[in-house]
Amino acid sequence: MEGLDRFLVATSTIGFICVCKVFVKFLKWVWVMFLRPPKNLKEYGSWAIITGSTDGIGKAMAFEFASKGLNLLLVGRNPLKLETTLKEIRERHGVEVKFVVIDMQKVSGEEIAKRIEEAIDGLDVGLLVNGAGLAYPYARFFHEVDLELMDAIVKVNLEATTWITKAVIPSMLKKKKGAIVNIGSGSSVVLPSYPLVTLYAATKGYLAMFSRCISLEYKHQGIDIQCQVPLFVSTKMTKMKKSVFVPTPELYSKTCTRWIGYEKLVEPYFLHSVQGFLIRAIPHALMDSYMLRYFLYFRAKGLSKDSNKAKETSLAASDSQ
Ligand SMILES: NC(=O)c1ccc[n+]([C@@H]2O[C@H](COP(=O)([O-])OP(=O)(O)OC[C@H]3O[C@@H](n4cnc5c(N)ncnc54)[C@H](OP(=O)(O)O)[C@@H]3O)[C@@H](O)[C@H]2O)c1
Repeated sequence: MEGLDRFLVATSTIGFICVCKVFVKFLKWVWVMFLRPPKNLKEYGSWAIITGSTDGIGKAMAFEFASKGLNLLLVGRNPLKLETTLKEIRERHGVEVKFVVIDMQKVSGEEIAKRIEEAIDGLDVGLLVNGAGLAYPYARFFHEVDLELMDAIVKVNLEATTWITKAVIPSMLKKKKGAIVNIGSGSSVVLPSYPLVTLYAATKGYLAMFSRCISLEYKHQGIDIQCQVPLFVSTKMTKMKKSVFVPTPELYSKTCTRWIGYEKLVEPYFLHSVQGFLIRAIPHALMDSYMLRYFLYFRAKGLSKDSNKAKETSLAASDSQ
């Protein structure tokens, strides 16, 4: 009887500790997600550099930073889009805005770094957001990715981010403060696999590891480095409409700005975080099989769209003859 009592006390104590741990974890989640005060980004410096600032998440972040009084250096490949974004931001927020044109797909890493170094010369840069990114137009097997697309994804997602970070860190080191945000993806951190969009997810996996490591290298030098890993956001990359789990870039950027300067790997949007929790609870084998079927469906859809387009083009060509 005494043995049974001891067993019951031990198991209930262990159970109680487990419940407490879950509760404390939940309270911490509520704190960081909704209550923790955001850092004052202007304390890092008066200028922010944003790549991919002509569309989607990067553009929304540019407006968010400008609303907080930060001056902006926009980095993009399309001079017209850069000019329009610059005018919109200046008119709406009255901050200083400059831009530098770089097509990350076409320019070498060293050249990108050189252009960024020249562009930031004399600016008090406190913040860098590596937001530019490229994915497949639709899902496909790895051997089906043509060489140009393959080269572009590696250059934009991986090489450019690495070289731009290298170009900006010395000026932050000099003043012993700064923050860097790399936009990774839940595809490489939350999900166990991302088949048929392999190269994209793999480059984002690189960004997560790159950020985790350099964040340790520079934390004690006053530079806060972070990788944000969103799930779906409604942008031209995903072609998805906004919904409960798919925020607009504006909503995403409002949320993600609150996280800058804190943890090194974050899922800033609270419904993505809930989604991530649920995904992680599903056995990997089940998730793998679901993801494969999900992307096979989108591959088939993309292929059929492509073949319809090809038919229309050949019809138009034969009509004009
Ligand atoms: N949307 C999502 O669901 C989602 C989820 C996870 C992670 N992300 C990541 O979030 C970041 C932003 O994505 P998004 O959804 O906002 O995509 P987006 O709307 O397509 O915007 C991508 C940005 O990158 C720029 N860019 C693309 N190729 C470039 C190149 N060769 N040189 C210079 N700039 C280039 C684009 O310029 P243009 O305006 O000239 O096209 C655009 O400003 C990406 O890194 C993406 O991987 C997105």
